[in-house]
Amino acid sequence: MSAPAPLTLVPQPIEAYATAHTEPVGPVLEALREETYASVSRAQMQVGPLEGTFLRMLVQLVGARRVVEVGTFTGYSALCLAQGLPEDGELVTCDVNEETTAMARRYWDQTPHGKKIRAVVAPALETIAGLEGSFDLAFIDADKTSYDAYYEALLPKIRQGGLVVIDNTLWSGRVLDPQGADDQAIVAFNAKVAADTRVEKVLLTVRDGMTLARKR
Ligand SMILES: C[S@@+](CC[C@H](N)C(=O)[O-])C[C@H]1O[C@@H](n2cnc3c(N)ncnc32)[C@H](O)[C@@H]1O
Repeated sequence: MSAPAPLTLVPQPIEAYATAHTEPVGPVLEALREETYASVSRAQMQVGPLEGTFLRMLVQLVGARRVVEVGTFTGYSALCLAQGLPEDGELVTCDVNEETTAMARRYWDQTPHGKKIRAVVAPALETIAGLEGSFDLAFIDADKTSYDAYYEALLPKIRQGGLVVIDNTLWSGRVLDPQGADDQAIVAFNAKVAADTRVEKVLLTVRDGMTLARKR
């Protein structure tokens, strides 16, 4: 069976062109991508080079020192986020899967950014509830029916002017014709964020849709 195609709403040749004209991700992220696609199911959940590099740049633009991620998987987006942090920066990343988190750690530790990453294996809402202090940026990329709960748990912990970044908000285009529970959850979540006066927001057509919500 061939590997699944990476997820993108723009045509693959355009995605490839954009990636070729974007800062290269380097050998560790390339190897992590290869191993994920070769050996882990649902590899296309991984954000990939274009969105990953964009996440790194967002961390830099916000001047973030503390970042929290919901949905580690094999650690691609986490490493991109950590690359954008200063040397004494901190990324807390949450997942329930020990195996994929262990694989992530193997790759993070090949880089100087591994020491910035604290991975917590537990339901994310529990981890978020225990987080102390404020964060500059949060990245939500886990089970879609809990997006609203993650957003509500994280927003009070984000400083004014900080960002909540939410992945898959176009959900392969299914937002236009929602059928299942995940589709309905994303549609309801998008409507809620669009009307949320606590944040300024933009829904970008990057990869599978990405919402940036800046706390007022
Ligand atoms: C879309 S993947 C994350 C992809 C990752 N950001 C990347 O770019 O490689 C979603 C992850 O959310 C995790 N997840 C699902 N339910 C969760 C929960 N309740 N708490 C924490 N993580 C959860 C899954 O185990 C899965 O690894």
